[in-house]
Amino acid sequence: MARPLAEQDLLLLVDALATGEWQSGETLAAAAGLTRAGLAKRVGHLRDWGLNVESKFGQGYRLARPLERLDGALLQTSVPQDLRVTVAPLVDSTNRVLMEADPESDPQALLAEHQTAGRGRRGRDWHSPFGANLYLSIAWTYAMWPPHLPALSLSVGVVCARALDAAGVDGVQLKWPNDLWVGNRKLGGILIEQRGESGDLCRVVVGVGINVAMHARQGSAIDQPWTTVDEVLASCGRKPASRNRLAVDVLHGLHECLARYVVKGFEPYRAEWCALDALRGRQVYVPGQDRLRGIGRGIDDDGAFLIETDAGLRSVLSGDVSLRPA
Ligand code: BTN
Repeated sequence: MARPLAEQDLLLLVDALATGEWQSGETLAAAAGLTRAGLAKRVGHLRDWGLNVESKFGQGYRLARPLERLDGALLQTSVPQDLRVTVAPLVDSTNRVLMEADPESDPQALLAEHQTAGRGRRGRDWHSPFGANLYLSIAWTYAMWPPHLPALSLSVGVVCARALDAAGVDGVQLKWPNDLWVGNRKLGGILIEQRGESGDLCRVVVGVGINVAMHARQGSAIDQPWTTVDEVLASCGRKPASRNRLAVDVLHGLHECLARYVVKGFEPYRAEWCALDALRGRQVYVPGQDRLRGIGRGIDDDGAFLIETDAGLRSVLSGDVSLRPA
């Protein structure tokens, strides 16, 4: 009787293809104890995970690009000790899993190679093909609600921009409230979910998605202009990024930000956020709200976005709307 396909078997095949070199079908099938048809079925599953597996008669199979798997042990030893890190091959959504995880284990971080139901802002999907990008969430419990919580996502934007800068990615900007942009194209996004626990306890789950090596074909369903870390690096003649290195830097930055948010809030990030503001001085509008059209004028003390309209300065609260250059 055919054995049910185990995730582990598929991961072994991913590892066998990880170099991006051609691998003969015969060798791959023999190593896995499969027929050629059985191997083709497994390759089909990898494609369902969003992997870009090419096949060629006489050559076999290869990944369109080399793949660096996330290394849970490396990540765990590279982040502050109190942060528990887990890497999962696939989950529906790292945010969803952590929202339902035991708060007693906070602070905890979850990274996935593939999300089957990645969540974006405002109920959108977040496209999450296997091994192509960074999908990570971190959960934090506070003894009381931190002040200025709406500005947390702006702080997280700065954390990500710093990590990208350290990876050699030039030109990252922040589009209010929490898109990472390079040259008017989306490089990543942030989704913060929160809930009150018993008493005054407050729990936040910060989710970060950064496009790292996603191929045009893998992201063909995305309905807005986007780019990747590797594309930006290549445009400056630089080598592809290490997802593990980038993950470590983002996790470090998030840990620092969340640990001191109750006391310091947005202040340590404000000046940098303003310097990276992609919409300052540009024509913007708030979709669906005709009167909110004008020039982007930065943010107020609470992190609300300011628009200079014909009727004067108006502020838009975090989470309400998207802004696009008019
Ligand atoms: C946006 O719409 O811009 C926010 C995207 C946030 C995506 C990340 S990927 C890791 C985490 N898990 C999710 O399901 N979503 C966030």
